[in-house]
Amino acid sequence: MNKNLHHILTARDLSPELLGSMIKRAKWMKETFHSLGGRDYLRKMYEGRVLLYTFGEPSTRTRISFCMAAFFLGMHVEGSDNAEEFSSKKKGESWEDMGRVMSGYQTDVMIARTKNAGDVEKIAAGSLCSVINGGDGDREHPTQMMVDIATIEGEFNTLEGLHIGVCGDLLRSRTVHSLVGKMSEFPGTQFTLFSPKELMLKPKLRQLLIDKRVPFTEHHELNPELMGGLQVFYQTRAQDERKGGTLSAPLVIGREELGWIGDGGILLHPLPVGPGGEISPEVMAQARLPRDQRESWAHGAMPFDQSDMGPWVRMAGLEYALGYLEA
Ligand code: NCD
Repeated sequence: MNKNLHHILTARDLSPELLGSMIKRAKWMKETFHSLGGRDYLRKMYEGRVLLYTFGEPSTRTRISFCMAAFFLGMHVEGSDNAEEFSSKKKGESWEDMGRVMSGYQTDVMIARTKNAGDVEKIAAGSLCSVINGGDGDREHPTQMMVDIATIEGEFNTLEGLHIGVCGDLLRSRTVHSLVGKMSEFPGTQFTLFSPKELMLKPKLRQLLIDKRVPFTEHHELNPELMGGLQVFYQTRAQDERKGGTLSAPLVIGREELGWIGDGGILLHPLPVGPGGEISPEVMAQARLPRDQRESWAHGAMPFDQSDMGPWVRMAGLEYALGYLEA
């Protein structure tokens, strides 16, 4: 693998310091975009640079917010959706060869999402340019982690000393793996984990929390005592398309459960909400409204404020991958 490149393959590639710079830069991107002449200024910054993407799994937020991020920075974007069907992958080409070919077209950055864990790293191994992991199987989703952490920082002005509830498919959700792994590096983090018995945290990640002495407890139901001290409640979808299929009914957060989260606490979800409806329709209807129009009980329901962060955070991610942003 070319070591001079700025890949974003796992959450570990982004130190807390680098993440801090990215969050600052994302805020700057948003402010600049909305300032007089700012849109034109940004569009000149990386005019003509090339972003290529290959998505082997469905995506709404990751792909489209990356495309918007690249567009706002003046980059040219090309890509392949349903890539494991419509590209030469179907003919048996190796990921390494595909990475080499795609990166050889004067490409500046590539983004890849693959069905299987570890395949994005193979693309990066063959690539001549920086590669960003847009989600590889059930393993990692580092740019969703960037969005999640930027949203948390935007709300609390700090990433230290936070008590985070993580709920749902802790076993197969790549966003959980990236978020829990990274938040465990910030001082004072503690976790309360909620999941059906079948979907508890992977042993490897549980061991990492133990080794790092990050306090955590595990539960199989939601209740007011457990949720009262939380600042963040991070809900996730059952990843039923993955190994094991449908394993259990979700722990649903509705209006009542939302009220159990401590004062000033927020509800996040990487989206999409699954057919099991792990956030109730009543809460989602409020969450879709602009924050100042929500009823007071739903003020902290932020999954769409979180998805709105996507382009700004990913602009900072692209800038890093292009080699222009440091810790
Ligand atoms: C997530 C993913 O693809 O892992 N979606 C996203 O990128 N925001 C979460 C999910 O699919 O449940």
